[in-house]
Amino acid sequence: MNWQATVITLFPEMFPGPLGLSLAGRALEKGLWACRTEDLRQHGLGRHRAVDDTPFGGGAGMVIRPDVVDAAFAASQAPADVPRVYLTPRGRPLTQQNVRRYAAGAGVLLLCGRFEGVDERVLQAHDVEQVSIGDYILSGGETAALVLLDACVRLLPGVMGCEESGVEESFSEGLLEYPHYTRPAEWEGRAVPEILLSGNHAAIAAWRQKQAEKITRERRPDLWSAWLARKERNMAEAVGGAAQTDHFGV
Ligand code: 6GU
Repeated sequence: MNWQATVITLFPEMFPGPLGLSLAGRALEKGLWACRTEDLRQHGLGRHRAVDDTPFGGGAGMVIRPDVVDAAFAASQAPADVPRVYLTPRGRPLTQQNVRRYAAGAGVLLLCGRFEGVDERVLQAHDVEQVSIGDYILSGGETAALVLLDACVRLLPGVMGCEESGVEESFSEGLLEYPHYTRPAEWEGRAVPEILLSGNHAAIAAWRQKQAEKITRERRPDLWSAWLARKERNMAEAVGGAAQTDHFGV
């Protein structure tokens, strides 16, 4: 069975959206993944198919009712074992590690919120993971769901050629990528770093590593600290390992 995305949303027309084009779109046409939607409105109550109500305890905004979400989950026909994910700015940050886990399974069931949010009880009842795509507020979870699906689909077997698939490795190593240059070698008075024209592959690799470290230190102190800590740990392990070998060798 191919990888199956199911999206519960008030705006089913937003899917597959941009994922119907380019890399993900070709994969969709090839049947490497599928995108189903479940219209939350279909499960609304009364003549107006209301999906939300005012929050207990007062305050601004509206909250999506648990019974409505529950009915949408039941109707979605997603396999019981796929991760259920609610896209919300209150969630845990989406990471490449999560993306790899989702991509490795049979698919995902995504719940897109609007308004102030979804009643907490239905999230608990269905063991729903709450995931955010960053520290800013979107008008709804749909664009975040598209981001999550894009990140998953490019990892599915057969979606990317081997040429592109290395790109994911470099982020996994914990540093931002070095800068890229192509022709012309001089453009509007700006020259390409000379070393890249030298043909000295070892020197180029060393330069790129230095650049990656510099950029990571400047732009992402959080990633830089984690990378330094990992390097220290690896070095300590290597030393400890060598000491042990010596010990057993004696
Ligand atoms: Cl997942 N949803 C919304 N509405 N805003 C967000 C978000 C999600 N992640 C970051 N901001």
